[in-house]
Amino acid sequence: MLKKLIAGVVLVSSIVYASSEVNVYSHRHYDSDKQLFKMFEDKTGIKVNIVKAKANELMMRLEKEGKNSPADIFITADVGRLYLAQSKGLFQKIDSQYLNETIPEQLREKDGYWFGLTKRARVIVYNKDKVKPSELSTYEDLTAPKWNKRVIIRKSSNIYNQSLLASMIDSQGREKAKIWAEGIVKNMGRAPTGSDRDQMKAVVAGVGDVAIVNTYYVGQLLNSKKSNEVMVGKKMGVFFPNQGEGERGTHINISGAGVTLSSKNRDNAIKLLEFLASPEAQKVFAEANYEYPANPNVKASKLIQSLGTFKEDSIELYKYGVYNAEAVKIFDEVNWK
Ligand SMILES: [Fe+2]
Repeated sequence: MLKKLIAGVVLVSSIVYASSEVNVYSHRHYDSDKQLFKMFEDKTGIKVNIVKAKANELMMRLEKEGKNSPADIFITADVGRLYLAQSKGLFQKIDSQYLNETIPEQLREKDGYWFGLTKRARVIVYNKDKVKPSELSTYEDLTAPKWNKRVIIRKSSNIYNQSLLASMIDSQGREKAKIWAEGIVKNMGRAPTGSDRDQMKAVVAGVGDVAIVNTYYVGQLLNSKKSNEVMVGKKMGVFFPNQGEGERGTHINISGAGVTLSSKNRDNAIKLLEFLASPEAQKVFAEANYEYPANPNVKASKLIQSLGTFKEDSIELYKYGVYNAEAVKIFDEVNWK
């Protein structure tokens, strides 16, 4: 009798299941995200199915699958990528009062194609044994002769650098942006290689004295299970560039998400995005990966708060996408590997 009953329940629940799920394509690989999806499932009964892969692979997959894609949400880091997904027609417009009121205007696409969930700053880090913060000022200053062979930064194929250069094209024009890229190449301590974390390791190894990296990687090093990584984190000073009067502020970027054009579970997808923007979820984002919450009512982790407050570049973020191709071209012209 009991067995029969269970079989009946399973049958019924599998029908319900189909209409109460949401399929996420995500390039984020953090435990925090797993925890968040579980929280959402417990709260709503909506099952979250995740496909994880590299951003470019997921985008290619979405393009290939077209209307038949099972994906409801695409999550990725960097406006450069979100903008690309939007321009390939992979997202649909979402008009959610909650998202519009919760996520600051700068951190979301104006028509609702994508929304920022977390924020990061791309900062200058320096070897505390070798550099005084008073020697640092702006991204532009890193092209000065005093930084010859001392600057460490990853490859130009990296979207974070492309967005940084795009922001310079917007603020100063192509010519000056190119002069900056040229100057950095000239001052590089080595040919670019590796991740943001690797740049900091190279600084501690003495390959250079300063690096340009995203803030959360400093948090990741300091909280690493590997003692050598913790040591690297401890030797790093974090400097927020371009803070002076009249300066544009430190470069910021986001991790974000949009509802796919193909979405078959649109309502659930919106519910999940709204949940991810809620204070409850934003706290998890903040604590787990040392990013700044996109929701301004939620505080960053203690560690990230300890870096201090700073003036952010107030550029409209979608411009990172607008100028991406131009940025890639400049990197090529100046031979930034
Ligand atoms: Fe990253």
